[in-house]
Order: sequence, then structure tokens, then C-alpha cells
Amino acid sequence: MQTHEIRQRFTEHFVNLGHSEVPSASLILNDPNLLFVNAGMVPFKPFFLGQQTPPYDKATSIQKCVRTLDIEEVGITTRHNTFFQMAGNFSFGDYFKESAIKNAWSLLTKSVEDGGFGFNPELLWVTVYLDDDEAAEIWEKQVGVPAERIQRLGMADNYWSMGVPGPCGPCSEIYYDRGPEYGKDGGPIADDNRYMEIWNLVFMGYERGEGIGKDNFEIVGQLPKKNIDTGMGIERVACLLQGVDNVYETDLLRPVIEEAEKLTGATYGSTQTNDVRFRVIADHCRTGLMLILDGVTPGNEGRGYILRRLLRRIIRSARLLGAEGETMEVLMDTVRQTMTPSYPEIAENWERIRSVAVGEEKAFLKTLESGSHLFESYAEEAKAAGSTEVPGDVAFALHDTHGFPIDLTMEMAAESGLSVDSEGFHSLMAEQKARAKADNQAKKLGHADESIYRSFVDNHPTVFTGYDQLEDEGLILALVQDGALVERASEGSRVQVILDRTPFYAEAGGQMADRGDLRGESFAADVDDVQKVGKKVWLHNVTITGGEIAAGQKVTAKVSRAWRHQARQAHSGTHLIHAALRQVLGPTAVQAGSLNKPGYLRFDFNYGDQLTDTQLRDIEQIANGAVDTDYEVNTIETSLDEAKKMGAMALFGENYGSKVRVVEIGGPFSMELCGGIHVDHSSQIGPIAILGESSVGSGTRRIEAYTGMDSMGYLSREKNLVSGLATSLKAPSEEIPDRIEALTAKLKAAEKQVQQLRNQQLLSRVGELVANATSVNGVTVVAQQLPDGVGAGDLRTIAMDAKARLGSEPAVVLFTSQDGDKVPFVAALTDAAVDRGLKAGDIVKAFGEKVGGRGGGKPQMAQGSGSEAAGISAGLSAVKQVIEGA
Ligand code: SER
Repeated sequence: MQTHEIRQRFTEHFVNLGHSEVPSASLILNDPNLLFVNAGMVPFKPFFLGQQTPPYDKATSIQKCVRTLDIEEVGITTRHNTFFQMAGNFSFGDYFKESAIKNAWSLLTKSVEDGGFGFNPELLWVTVYLDDDEAAEIWEKQVGVPAERIQRLGMADNYWSMGVPGPCGPCSEIYYDRGPEYGKDGGPIADDNRYMEIWNLVFMGYERGEGIGKDNFEIVGQLPKKNIDTGMGIERVACLLQGVDNVYETDLLRPVIEEAEKLTGATYGSTQTNDVRFRVIADHCRTGLMLILDGVTPGNEGRGYILRRLLRRIIRSARLLGAEGETMEVLMDTVRQTMTPSYPEIAENWERIRSVAVGEEKAFLKTLESGSHLFESYAEEAKAAGSTEVPGDVAFALHDTHGFPIDLTMEMAAESGLSVDSEGFHSLMAEQKARAKADNQAKKLGHADESIYRSFVDNHPTVFTGYDQLEDEGLILALVQDGALVERASEGSRVQVILDRTPFYAEAGGQMADRGDLRGESFAADVDDVQKVGKKVWLHNVTITGGEIAAGQKVTAKVSRAWRHQARQAHSGTHLIHAALRQVLGPTAVQAGSLNKPGYLRFDFNYGDQLTDTQLRDIEQIANGAVDTDYEVNTIETSLDEAKKMGAMALFGENYGSKVRVVEIGGPFSMELCGGIHVDHSSQIGPIAILGESSVGSGTRRIEAYTGMDSMGYLSREKNLVSGLATSLKAPSEEIPDRIEALTAKLKAAEKQVQQLRNQQLLSRVGELVANATSVNGVTVVAQQLPDGVGAGDLRTIAMDAKARLGSEPAVVLFTSQDGDKVPFVAALTDAAVDRGLKAGDIVKAFGEKVGGRGGGKPQMAQGSGSEAAGISAGLSAVKQVIEGA
């Protein structure tokens, strides 16, 4: 029975019993305790706890689940997948133990014709919690399971909780006996490989408190109602109903293994090591695809890190099995085919999934080889030195320069019988982070010790008035100079000014700080940067341009109108580019960072591929279209939940306060959480001119653009450039590309001609070169450096010609030249020379050693290439020595 059908039968069985069919929730739910949804009950948790009223009292679902605790175990044990589908039925205070048990039993044992799974009841075993006599009695008396096939287990096995505070309860599990070839007799308590667990029925009536693990916690109370939560492993049932050995051989995963066999040339079932690699590929491809489907992109932390680790393990396993080049697309495509019948949304999202996965592969393949070499050489070194540990700095270099997740390094080390100094690694990581942070902070805060600002952060947060005004009156609360509080400062000095209120925007959210000036009765100062400390106090970095400034004085703070105007243009322009980008590339193009300053913006986002010219043009057009539509720009203060409901884009991992600010340009066109300053109408942004796009690290791309008058300036410079070209080419501008192409072709042809002429010249000199031959040990030797720029092919022609002229005498010819930064060389020997025991291979070897290169070939003819022209004359002497020694 195919997996898809198993799913359908399950759902039908429970729908017929009055359950509401609930679609699977996303793998990513907002639960701070969970990276991914890992059980069918997770989306229903608030119902069990009584926090929310369920819209149904009975439900059934087939939930996508991911468990990634033991990634290293994947494929070694064959009952676990990192992704699996949990089929469940749930009762929220409706039915309890008796129906739960009977409903599960009837689906398992009902015949296939009647819509069941047709398991032989004689092969089913059950376990119950130690003191759960009620469940044991239902199994025995009402269902008819013989007492000897009902076993009792303790808390670790038969008391289910999420591992953290939440709903819990005793459970009863159903097992299938796969027969003596899978292990020993004695039921699930004796062997859980032979007796495979297929279904867990949780009688969820209690609430778990703090504690550790599965059996070391307190029960803090009863839930408002007695509930049922069950989970049947679709993959395991498929394994049994399809009569295969393990979950990797079921209809969903086997095709991926088969495809991997084709790609790698290795065979599944030949060695244990290779089998594990095949299973890793099959498992991780499926999990990777499902995670990308739900919006995860590869990264260095949290969910992104797990995805990156999975994808990189696939790539490495495929390599180890013998694959060369890229494999991701073909493998993922197989998963697409097996999974789409159950998850039709894969089809709509395929392009995005493909590009994320392939992008990660491209990025990793670039460094996999160099990283592996580095690792191997260290592993060898360590072993030779009698050490069993890979040092922390090697692991750090592998991570930092070669993109190896630390877990991958640890796995590689384990494969070579080594361990990794992970403490050393983590302390280097921490140092790097601290350095980056300190650099940033120090730069921005003028190297002051942050503690001097503490009392202001606690007691005098700055009131920011700049959203609606450019000018404000305020009071100087403090002055900081060279990291210390000062009372006053005079003309020419640089100080930080803390005001009680300010219209100056402090650098945040990618928007650069405002510029402008501060004026008081006795002083004037230019503001050239503004930074926030503790998110609350504004530090104005100023130069006193006249008079003396003192704490306690009144000031007029005035933001430069021109600066602010252009800064707003750039920031709103960034939002338009972001919105346009998502229209063109799809919702996975998630923001990774941005910077905007007057007239210019830069936007970084996660995306695997280089953008095409058409995509860039489309983005530019959509953004400028939005400018032209003259949308109203509105800002709304609301709660984070409300903002998300409105569809506002929030950055993953960003820490938002209880109130958030939503900036909306044209309603749904662009809606983002943002504290920055924006134009009132989109037309005020002026033209947006995209400069180009580039890569900034693995899987991240950057778009840069000008806004407003800077766009005009840019476009007019480009225009001047084009007209300059048109004048020099004496052609109208639209003909420039053709002209340049024609010119390039002409130039190439001319270069070729010059080369041919030079070769003719060289050939005509061959006679002269031969005539100047020397004789070593009775062998005629023509070893010469020819003029620069003679390539390998021409050297060969000339060498053959020289050899022919030397006829039947023993003769050795070696020609070399300096061709750019290469030193090609060719040796040709007459048969008579070969008869005397000389070989062209030995000649090029001797020469190559002196010019930092290598070569090889037949006894009569060999060639090679080096890179150190300084060694040419030593090389020529070495050739003679070889002949002398022969
Ligand atoms: N929540 C239980 C489990 O995950 C039953 O669905 O096993």
C-alpha cells in the first residue's frame, strides 16, 4: 500500500467517526521551546491546556514533523527519519481511553477491503503505563488482546510529555512483531527493533512542570478536561505494509536512493558505510525540501543552521559515494515527485525550493574541496604527531574560510578516529563575535565606556521628536569627551551631546543618522553622527564650530533639510525595492540587511542565484511604477501580532518591543515593521536607478540603487559616457554594441595574424637554431628560450620542425618561452636519441623542476608548463646535465 493511500485511509477512518479533518500546520510554529513542529499535537497545545476553545471536539490530522536531535544517527538506525508524518486523532474532552483504544485497533486490524490496514491481530503487541490498569483492562477484556501480549513500562517509555512544561499523560503504544529474523522473542520490552512501534495513544489529562527529560519532572496538576492525543507513524506503517526492511526502502525514499545510485555509480546494499550515506541523502533531501517549502533558508544559526547542515551533509555524502559535480537538483527533483501527491503546494513552490537548495550546493562546492584537503592534511599531521585531536583553530578555519559547519568537522574527525577541540573552536568563535561587536560599538560610541551612559539610559531616555519635525528646542543633559563626562567644551573640540529631546534620527534599521547643527546662546556645533545607547539615549557626535558649550544650556537642534529629504527618499526607496524584489523573485527573497543614506540604498537578501538583467529591469520598473502611482505612505503603531496579521514583514530573529511601527506604502504593496523615516507620498522618492547586483557571501545577494537627484546624476553620467563612446566610434548610440563587437572580432583576427607571422618568422629561424646546436656526449642539443609569447601549440610545431631537420642523428630539442605568467616547454627527441636511452619525459621533468612546473608525454615528445620564468636558464642547464648523465 502506497504512503499516500495510508494517509487517506487514516483520515477517512476518523472522519467517519466524526472527527474534523485539520490540515497539517507549518513545520515552523511560534513556540519558543521548539525549533520545528515535532509531534501531531503541537498545533493543538492551547486547546489541551484550556488556553483556547477548540472549534471542534474531535479532530484528525497528518502533521509534518521534523526531529533533528540525532542527525548523526540517521541511516545508522533504520527506524528514524528526520522528517516524518504523524497521523493523529485528537479528542478535546470528548471521548477518552476506551474509544481511543478501540478506534486505533479497528483501523489497524480491519481488512484492506473494508478500508483498514489489515494487520494480523496476532502480531500486534501493546504496552501500557505501570499503574494504568484501566487501559490494560480495555485491551484485554474489550479488545481481546491476550494478557501475555500486554506489557507494562515506566515513565521513560509510557508517560508522554513534550519534554518541557505542557500537557502530558500516561500512554499506550501499539507494536508490530516483524518476526524472529529481526531480533529476540519477548515483546517490545525485550526488543524494540523486532517489535516496531507504530502508534502511540496518549491519555492526556495532566500538566507537566519543570524538570529534565522524559521521566524526571513533576506533575503540577490536571488539565481542565481529559483529552486524547495519538500519533501513528505513517512511514513505519508504510514500511510494514510494503514488506520492506526499513523506512528508507519505502515508496517515498527508495526512489531517492535509486537516483543517488545513478548519480554516484555506487550500489545500495553493498557496504554498511555506503548504505548509511545513501540513507543520509534520502532522509536529508526530503527534510531539506520540506523545510525550504515552509520558508527556512540556509544560515548560520537556529533553523537556518539545521537546514544548512542537512544540505551540506547530502553534498558530502554524495561526494563520498563517488559523485562529481552537482547532484542537488536531480535528487531534490526525485523528492518532489514522491512528495507532491500528498503535498501539492510543492509544485507551486518548486522553483523557489530548487533555487535555495542548488544555491547552497553551489556555495558549498566552492569550498568543500579546499576544506577537505585542509582537513586531511591536518588529520595526517595530527596522527603523525601521535595526537588524536583536531585543534580548535583548524576547526575554526574550516568554519570561517570553508563554510564547514562545526558538526560536519566533528563527523569527519570521528570518521578518521579523531576528536575535535570544540572548546577551542567555540572560544575562537566567541572571540571573533566579541571583536566584531566591540569594533562596531567602539566605532560608533567613540570608544567610551558604556557605563557612563547608564544613568541616562535608566533615568533620562531621550524623547525623539523627529518623525514630524526637523527642529526642536532642548536641554543639554551631559557632554562626553574622550570617554569621560565633561562640564564644558570649546571651539574646535569634538564632544558627544546628550539632550533631553531631539529631532535627530539616530542610526538604526539601516538608515544613517541625520546631519545638522546644534545652536545655543553661546555656541554653535555641527552634528555629524548620532548613535543610540541602550536603545534609549541619543548621542550627538558634534564638532564645536564656535563659542563654548556647557551642560545645562538650552539648545536649538536643527536637522539639515536637504539631508533628511534625501535620507527619506532612500529609505522609502529601499521599501519599494524590497517589495518589487519579492514580486519578481518570490517570497523567499528575504531581507538580510540594508543601508540607506541620502541618495543611495543598498539591500541584501537571501537568494541562491545571480539575478538576470531582465529580473533587475523588472524590479526597477515595478519600484518606479510605485513611485509614479504616488501611493500614500502611512505609519501605524500596533502590537506585533496585529502587525503580522496585517501582513507586515518582520525580520526573523529581530527583537521587537511590545508596540511596533508599521510603515505602509500603497497598502498591500509594501508593509514593513520599521522605525525609520519615510516620505509622505511615494512620488517624493523620485526616480530609482538600480546600479547593479552582486554577491555578498554564500546565498546572499545585494542590490544597490540611487534615489532622487542622485539617480538623475547617475543616469546623466551614463548618458555622457554613451555619447562620448558614440563620438569616438563615429556611430549613433544604438549601434555601439554592434560596433564594439565588430571591433573586438577584428582585433582578435589581427592578433591571430600577428601570431601567425611571428611563428613563420620563428620557423624560418629554426635552421639557425639548429645550426647553433651544441653537442653533449655525442648528442646534438638544441635547448633554447624563444621570444616571449609563444604558446604551447606553437612551441610544439617548432620543436617538431627542428627535430625533423636533425634527421637520424641522436638529437634532443627543448624549446620554452614566457607566455604571460606561464612558462610552457616542449621536448622532442629523435629516434636515435631514444635508442640511446634518453626520454623526452625525463627532459621535461628536469626542466620543469626549475620553472616550478611539471610535464610528461611519450619518449619522443613531451611537454609541460611552469610558472617561474626566473628558472629558465637553470632549466636549460639541467637538460644538458640529464644528457650528460645518460
Ligand atoms: N504526542 C504523542 C507522540 O508524539 C502522540 O501523538 O508520540
